[in-house]
Amino acid sequence: MSNQPLAEPPSHRALIVYSSRFGQSEKIARAVAAVLSDRGIGADLEPLTRDTAVDPTRHGAFGLVASVRYGHFDKRARRLLVRHTAFLEASPSLLMTVSLTARTPEKRDPAVHVYTRKFLEQTAWRPTLTEVVAGALQYQRYRWFDAVMIRFIMRLTGGVTDPTADIEYTDWDQVSTAADRFAELVLAPPKPPTH
Ligand SMILES: Cc1cc2nc3c(=O)[nH]c(=O)nc-3n(C[C@H](O)[C@H](O)[C@H](O)COP(=O)(O)O)c2cc1C
Repeated sequence: MSNQPLAEPPSHRALIVYSSRFGQSEKIARAVAAVLSDRGIGADLEPLTRDTAVDPTRHGAFGLVASVRYGHFDKRARRLLVRHTAFLEASPSLLMTVSLTARTPEKRDPAVHVYTRKFLEQTAWRPTLTEVVAGALQYQRYRWFDAVMIRFIMRLTGGVTDPTADIEYTDWDQVSTAADRFAELVLAPPKPPTH
C-alpha cells in the first residue's frame, strides 16, 4: 500500500480489491476504479492476498470484485470481511461478483444469483450495492481438467463448448452504471445520527 500523501480526504477515497485468476475481474475492477477517478474519488486497486487490509485513515469506502470458481469465491475474501466488520457497517461498499452463469441477463439478479446469495449468507457483510456481472470464457487458458469441466457445465447450461472459444460476456455498460451508482454513494454526505 502506498504511503503517498492523499489528494482526497479518506471519505472520498476507496479501496477496490479484486480476486482474479485469469484477469477478467481485475479488468472489471480497473473499470470501476476509472469511473470513481472520473468522479473525483481516489481509488486504490489491490489484488486480494492474505495481507489485504482496509486502512480507515486512507479509505472511506470499499469494493470487492471477485470471480467464482467451482461455485466459490476466494476464501481470503471472507477473512478480509470478518476483519473489517465495523468499517464495513459504517461505510459505503460494493460487491461485484463475476461468473459465467451471469452471461444471461436474467441470471444477474443478486437475489437469485446463487453464488452471490450463498456468499452473503456466510458473512455479516451487507454491501450497500451488489452487482452480478458476466465474466469471460477462455478455454485455451484453462488447465486441461478445468477446460473439460467448464465445457461440461456449458453443455449442461446451453453455453458455448467450442474449445477454441475466447468470449468476453462482460456488459461494460452495466459495470460503469454500477460504478457510477457506487460513486454517488461515496460522495453522498454522511447520514445524521437517528437518535
Ligand atoms: C476453473 C474455473 C472454474 C469456474 N467455475 C465457475 C462456476 O462455478 N460458476 C460460474 O458461473 N463460472 C465459473 N467459472 C467462470 C469464471 O468465473 C469466469 O471465467 C471469470 O471471467 C473468471 O474471472 P477471473 O479471470 O477474474 O478469475 C469458472 C472458471 C474457471 C476457469
